[in-house]
Amino acid sequence: MSNSYSLMIHGGAGALEDLKQEASEAVFQQSITAILEQGRQRLEQGDSALDVVEYCVTLLENDRLYNAGRGSVLNAEGKVEMDAALMNGRDLSAGAVACIKQIKNPIALARRVLDRGEHVLLVGDGALEFAQFCQMETYPDDYFITDARIKQLAEAKSAGRMTLDHERIKPSQKLGTVGAVAQDLQGNLAAATSTGGLVNKRWGRVGDTPVVGAGVFADNETCAVSATGYGEQFLRTVLAKTISDFVHFKGMDADAAAKAGIEYLVRKVQGDGGVIVIDGAGNCAAAQSTSGLIRGWIERGGEAICKLG
Ligand code: GLY
Repeated sequence: MSNSYSLMIHGGAGALEDLKQEASEAVFQQSITAILEQGRQRLEQGDSALDVVEYCVTLLENDRLYNAGRGSVLNAEGKVEMDAALMNGRDLSAGAVACIKQIKNPIALARRVLDRGEHVLLVGDGALEFAQFCQMETYPDDYFITDARIKQLAEAKSAGRMTLDHERIKPSQKLGTVGAVAQDLQGNLAAATSTGGLVNKRWGRVGDTPVVGAGVFADNETCAVSATGYGEQFLRTVLAKTISDFVHFKGMDADAAAKAGIEYLVRKVQGDGGVIVIDGAGNCAAAQSTSGLIRGWIERGGEAICKLG
């Protein structure tokens, strides 16, 4: 039993100037702080880290500011295809879904996969059939699609490229995805990540988000990690597990491991993105190779802090 709790969330990485063009700093601050305080309430009343990361990601998915759930980016066919995953550091149980549509909260479907315990990752039509089996409500495609995402896809197509969530059509980087990591009063760690992926991506493309060890990882013996960035680079470096390994094999704390992870990402694959990490001592840390990373944290029950740069 720990006498404190920690919580950290993110709303995507990218070029700081681009993040600020999407919404003012105050709008992001308000959104992130409100979600942190709602998560705090749950942790203070003794809810598990797993329940709280799912809850916080659900709130991020419901906010059209972010590239997950409502407001997800569009693929090359103008459709939304979403990925999500979460992991419990207490027992390494995990649930994930990929290439899904019409589910309001992909992270809730991933949680159903985890709770059932039969499989870890369900994709496409099979995942949707499982959602029906779980009696989850489906939403029309229109619910997810915003005018800003339609414009963003048109710009990406005219520039003939695939881009990241918060990225304008220029050589800057703006990478979307949302995520949460937490440590509860019992000392358990958990991580959750959800995304609409990359703008103008090929249909059927799956990034790092639903892949345990790449975009999400949690182990009570090491840390909890949620990643945001160019998914292919995080897949190739298995970055979330690599960060956990830095804690396990090198004895690093959250801050050192997050920095070492991003250094590895950049050195090996010139990767773009960021990570949030909480270690077993409740330390909160973030690192990124982009100039911006929308994030906020409550370290060991302290005040809620939000940063974009
Ligand atoms: N990191 C999100 C993605 O590449 O799909």
